[in-house]
Amino acid sequence: MSTVDISGLDEADLNLSLEEQITKILQEPKLETKDHGQGGVAAYETKRAKLMRTPDFKTLIRQYPNSLSRIKDLLAQADGINKTCSNGDLTLTCLDIKDKSTYYKLQIGKEMFFLKYSSGQQVQYPDLYLKPHGFYEMKSALRLKEALRDIPNVRVIEPQIGYSDDKRDVIVTKWEDGMLLKDYLENIATEEQALEIKNKVSGIYHAIRQAFGDKAHFVDMADYNIFYDPKDKTFILFDLFDAREVGL
Ligand SMILES: Nc1ncnc2c1ncn2[C@@H]1O[C@H](COP(=O)(O)OP(=O)(O)O)[C@@H](O)[C@H]1O
Ligand SMILES: [Mg+2]
Repeated sequence: MSTVDISGLDEADLNLSLEEQITKILQEPKLETKDHGQGGVAAYETKRAKLMRTPDFKTLIRQYPNSLSRIKDLLAQADGINKTCSNGDLTLTCLDIKDKSTYYKLQIGKEMFFLKYSSGQQVQYPDLYLKPHGFYEMKSALRLKEALRDIPNVRVIEPQIGYSDDKRDVIVTKWEDGMLLKDYLENIATEEQALEIKNKVSGIYHAIRQAFGDKAHFVDMADYNIFYDPKDKTFILFDLFDAREVGL
């Protein structure tokens, strides 16, 4: 994927807040950029920050004045698990706070999104999380979507924004009301259903390896990163990225 290098903008940007950084990148007219073959998804890259976003999300946030700065305020206010804060048509609920990531449900008008904000070094994967990867999570999701598009009943989460800089990662995806496959397998599935699911999942992983090659390094490719809908036996993959993107 080609990106736009705007080296030179950066040094002055060192101390920008997340919102300022995203606003600046989104508003920079020079960066209004190309269709990346994914329905107009645009990727912007500076020395310090990388941002990818869908045209739909851009259109949506433009319909709500100052939405980025209002979301930033809500992020500061929703500072405890289950805390919900609203500002006009925007509502943010903090779902969980972990080690270095905080998870939110974000409502913009009538649309629902999942927002993951991470900062600092993760304890579990210190090498990996020294590297920003929110941007690559989106990039890999778009590629995965292509790779899996012919497999019935398999979808990939729909990313809207992937942002990374030296200190922070943000990914926004469309909200999914799914059950984790892990929970389904552990608590609900019969042995026969579990076997059927495991076969299907190995088929999915096989297709991913075929599309990305054997050297692809998908961190966390597991049943806790898949939603499963038993009604129509649909699988939705998320939180997957090829760690080669960050040199691992
Ligand atoms: N698009 C989404 N809609 C609703 N819930 C989500 C969505 N994406 C992730 N989640 C929930 O948030 C949890 C953590 O998300 P994940 O991206 O896996 O974060 P981490 O990188 O910390 O593993 C998931 O286990 C899932 O329950
Ligand atoms: Mg996960």
